[in-house]
Amino acid sequence: MRRLLPATVEAAPELTDEDLTTAYAFPPSGTWVRANFVTTLDGAIRGGDGVSGSISNDADQRVFRIARRTADVVLVCAGTVRTEDYRPSKRPLAIVTATLDLPSTLRLFAESTEEHVTPIALTTQEAAATADESLRARVEVVPCGSGHVDLSRVVAVLADRGLRRIQCEGGPHLLGSLLRAGLLDEMLQTIVPRLRGGGPADHLVDVPGGLDPMIRLTPSQVLEDDGTLFLRAQVVRA
Ligand SMILES: NC(=O)c1ccc[n+]([C@@H]2O[C@H](COP(=O)([O-])OP(=O)(O)OC[C@H]3O[C@@H](n4cnc5c(N)ncnc54)[C@H](OP(=O)(O)O)[C@@H]3O)[C@@H](O)[C@H]2O)c1
Repeated sequence: MRRLLPATVEAAPELTDEDLTTAYAFPPSGTWVRANFVTTLDGAIRGGDGVSGSISNDADQRVFRIARRTADVVLVCAGTVRTEDYRPSKRPLAIVTATLDLPSTLRLFAESTEEHVTPIALTTQEAAATADESLRARVEVVPCGSGHVDLSRVVAVLADRGLRRIQCEGGPHLLGSLLRAGLLDEMLQTIVPRLRGGGPADHLVDVPGGLDPMIRLTPSQVLEDDGTLFLRAQVVRA
């Protein structure tokens, strides 16, 4: 056991953005799927207003931005795109959705200009067959499985396009599905020193019945900023 706080050695220097870019680099080769979440001390993933911004802070936003920049693609579920009202991005965005419920009124589309990348919607064959022209004009619809979205297919589709550094931004059901499918390589977790309370739906990993066996992780990095902890941990493969 070692003490991080209070620091027993001379305080480590402040990390620059360049240091953080190095600290959050993906492995140099191979497909790598990592998730980035912010939680309170009790594991809540959203504040009372239903979004993660209200439990986040400036240090978390800084790490979120820098870690995101090191990725080839942001993988997110449609629920989070809708709830968090994602903005259009110059970085590829891959959206997991069983329903293709991606209305044009979402800021992701309403604020999109030519400089933004068209998002990819990864869905079922059945939903893809119902996609009309107007939806196809705002997202690239890619079928990944019949009856349900096959996440191993999702990862393969992205990797085939050279998008091998995959940063998953949630939400909890998608994270649970990736874990259950054995597809997650790493967790980045910001732990904000607050308690929020709430029911199971407010928590980080949504897997009905729990993960059995539990998944073990090996922390490779712990950073700290004014009491907020930044954990980087790799999933241990059996
Ligand atoms: N603290 C954080 O870092 C963080 C990060 C992300 C989200 N959140 C919060 O978490 C809360 C819940 O988020 P959420 O509803 O987006 O989470 P979610 O439960 O992961 O996703 C729900 C929706 O995403 C799609 N989806 C997820 N997993 C899927 C799968 N395996 N196959 C097919 N579709 C899948 C479905 O969309 P369709 O209905 O379109 O089929 C589903 O309705 C929100 O309050 C959000 O703000 C927090």
